[in-house]
Amino acid sequence: SKNHHHDFVIKETNYTRLCHEKAVLAVNGQFPGPTIYARKGDIVVVNVINQGNKNITIHWHGVDQPRNPWSDGPEYITQCPIQPGANLTYTVILSEEEGTLWWHAHSDFDRTTVHGAIVIHPKLGTTFPFKKPHKEIPVILGEWWNADVNRLLEEAKRTGGEVGISDANTINGQPGDLFPCSMNGTFKVHVESGKTYLLRIINAALANELFFGVAGHRLTVVGTDARYTKPFTVDYIMISPGQTVDALLEADRATNSSSNGRRYYMAARTFASNTGIDFNNSTATAIVEYSTDAPRAARASTPEFPNLPAVNDTDAAAAYTEQLRSLASKDHPADVPAGHVDEHMLITIAVNVLPCAGNATCDGPLGSRFAASLNNVSFQTPSVDVLDAYYGSVGGGVYEADFPDEPPFFFNFTGDNVPTERWFTKRGTKVKVLGYGAAVEVVFQDTAILGAETHPMHLHGYAFYVVGRGLGNFDRHKDPATYNLIDPPYQNTVSVPKAGWAAVRFRAANPGVWFMHCHFDRHQVWGMDTVFIVKDGKTPEAKMMRRPAGMPRC
Ligand code: C2O
Ligand code: CU
Repeated sequence: SKNHHHDFVIKETNYTRLCHEKAVLAVNGQFPGPTIYARKGDIVVVNVINQGNKNITIHWHGVDQPRNPWSDGPEYITQCPIQPGANLTYTVILSEEEGTLWWHAHSDFDRTTVHGAIVIHPKLGTTFPFKKPHKEIPVILGEWWNADVNRLLEEAKRTGGEVGISDANTINGQPGDLFPCSMNGTFKVHVESGKTYLLRIINAALANELFFGVAGHRLTVVGTDARYTKPFTVDYIMISPGQTVDALLEADRATNSSSNGRRYYMAARTFASNTGIDFNNSTATAIVEYSTDAPRAARASTPEFPNLPAVNDTDAAAAYTEQLRSLASKDHPADVPAGHVDEHMLITIAVNVLPCAGNATCDGPLGSRFAASLNNVSFQTPSVDVLDAYYGSVGGGVYEADFPDEPPFFFNFTGDNVPTERWFTKRGTKVKVLGYGAAVEVVFQDTAILGAETHPMHLHGYAFYVVGRGLGNFDRHKDPATYNLIDPPYQNTVSVPKAGWAAVRFRAANPGVWFMHCHFDRHQVWGMDTVFIVKDGKTPEAKMMRRPAGMPRC
């Protein structure tokens, strides 16, 4: 394995989108930020230098970081933020991951513009489990906000109301030429007829699940979340914030005859499972252009547009998602905890309300403030990080180790008209402690408290096998019989179906303090989070995990 070194200088930089110039936080002047290239098992050292005007942290999304939670990044979970003028060197330890991941800010809403791809190639001497592509193309899907997102966040915290929506979806930072002032910047992929391209697709959006496709072409999915999948060919994919999809695009269109058939749109449009709330109903485009000797006029022909599912087509989303399977080959085996399960957790996911302070009226339902919860605990972000508290560098009282294994009350979770007394939640910094090596099953159960919707649940420090999913209320007697324990997909983020459930399994073999949360950022800041503390199985506990020198203090 090899060591790589990067400097990430974070600074406000002016960018213009939708005819609107504004300063955004960017890394080394780039938005989206630089791509990190490495091989499986390498170590990447990144010195993050904060020359911006606010506190920031960086997270390496989907990197397990074995026994190295100190470099994981979520603010107030594994570190105090890097203050303006300060720096922090992260050690990103790659182990089993192979494929596409990404890095992003993990403080406030900074990840809107502070994000980039991580491309992990096979070890030297090994190769992809599919035909080597002619080229690899990172395709980062995101959102552009004309407003200052952190100001919107402050405002929402003050009023207790909604966070607002972005002004466009983007592909590699660009809304595409259907939007004003976007002609020149539109992302273009140049392809040669007969060659195969590997699209490394990342959903970096704050709030939008997305359908994505390329006109006139099908995509062969070969990986997700830096693990290989059994290849399957589709007209579109559905990708949640946090997820990555590796897909092969065959440039199989002939270009020698007519003037048509040389330019094709690739497009990303919102999949909104709950259209009862405000959402960004826009479509971002980029252009796939075949190289050709045809005259200029022919090259400028209007591209074909892909057929994507309707914005609220939950069946289309499920039809895609259900095809994901681990490759489960000799070289890339699946190792699903299939025997005894040590920890069973049923976790309800809810958007709720909290009382407005004092006699004031807030902008949420019933004059209260919007909140969100897991098992009716609305996560309260502590003021010093949980990791430091656990390993003893700071005093106690930062968290409580009593996150519940099941919901505090049972009702028809996914039914309509949940009584208003069920709308309210309580704040707490509650964590779940897991024994080293425990086989863990978590069933995520959506609720319809303030309207059912999908939730992309993400776990740090691990990936998990998505062994089951279904609609309605999880039935612990019947539903486990439907689990796939042979070749379930191995993911770090699972889209829990609207008014349904998803079951995941993993082995708690990575000691540390690991955040788990919804990757819709508004839900994350409302408290749809918890933390797993995984013991290291040694006595005395985890002395080798003391706080490294140079970590910022809160
Ligand atoms: Cu991609 Cu906790 O995040
Ligand atoms: Cu959510």
